[in-house]
Amino acid sequence: MTHPTNLIGKTALVQGGSRGIGAAIVKRLVEQGAAVAFTFVSSEAKAQELQDSITAAGGKALAIKADSANAEDIRDAVAQTVETFGGLDILVNNAGVLAIAPLDEFTLEDFDRTLAINVRSVFIASQEAARHMKEGGRIINIGSTNADRMPFAGGGVYAMSKSALVGLTKGLARDLGPRGITINNVQPGPVDTDMNPADSDFAETLMGLMAIPRYGKSEEIAAMVAYLAGPEAGYVTGASLTIDGGFGA
Ligand SMILES: NC(=O)c1ccc[n+]([C@@H]2O[C@H](COP(=O)([O-])OP(=O)(O)OC[C@H]3O[C@@H](n4cnc5c(N)ncnc54)[C@H](OP(=O)(O)O)[C@@H]3O)[C@@H](O)[C@H]2O)c1
Repeated sequence: MTHPTNLIGKTALVQGGSRGIGAAIVKRLVEQGAAVAFTFVSSEAKAQELQDSITAAGGKALAIKADSANAEDIRDAVAQTVETFGGLDILVNNAGVLAIAPLDEFTLEDFDRTLAINVRSVFIASQEAARHMKEGGRIINIGSTNADRMPFAGGGVYAMSKSALVGLTKGLARDLGPRGITINNVQPGPVDTDMNPADSDFAETLMGLMAIPRYGKSEEIAAMVAYLAGPEAGYVTGASLTIDGGFGA
């Protein structure tokens, strides 16, 4: 499928772009013409491979090692993007972790790490990126349908982290709106990635809860992100858009 080339001349940074949904977003933004930097924390080889495959095909990509739990790493990633590509128009906050454990066993380390990566990093990157963005800038967060529905025990902290993005997105829309910058929150349902493989024991149970009983594809999430990143979405802001096969219906 060919996509519109409406992001030519735009520059983007994707937090957590080495695998899964993030990698699909990187590829999609490149296909639409953007120069795209992306971060990773552990998957060095995968990140390098993605950067190389994009540059070999004539696109512009930059892999940056940066831990989303670390404020300085995030700020450096924004600075490197601006330095390399000459600006920053689109920020996608995709890096996320999922820790599941019964209430009794859930550790404070996992609580703090979940909030640091799933919420605090979104705030830091948005604050830093907005300093460089001009009118038409776009911030897109990757939340989860679990912000609205968490039908299992053990996922409370993850659900809380994704609910926090709903409020953060609404509030920051008010900060950024007068500057012509939008911020939105995409809420996927089950998507086949390392975090949530479609062949896990859990998959059948999840599919029993969906109107469309299949896992989503990373490319389907990337398509919604690409819409929000494009010029046609200039009037959408502060919104949480769910793409979950009816998991929450
Ligand atoms: N899959 C689903 O069913 C689903 C559903 C709803 C929402 N989501 C959300 O979608 C986003 C992506 O999920 P996914 O399924 O694609 O997950 P994934 O396959 O586990 O990939 C996670 C990505 O985030 C990066 N990342 C994780 N921790 C990081 C850190 N501390 N610093 C920098 N990068 C970090 C990883 O980098 P490395 O490769 O270096 O580890 C990787 O690129 C997450 O926010 C997740 O909560 C997923």
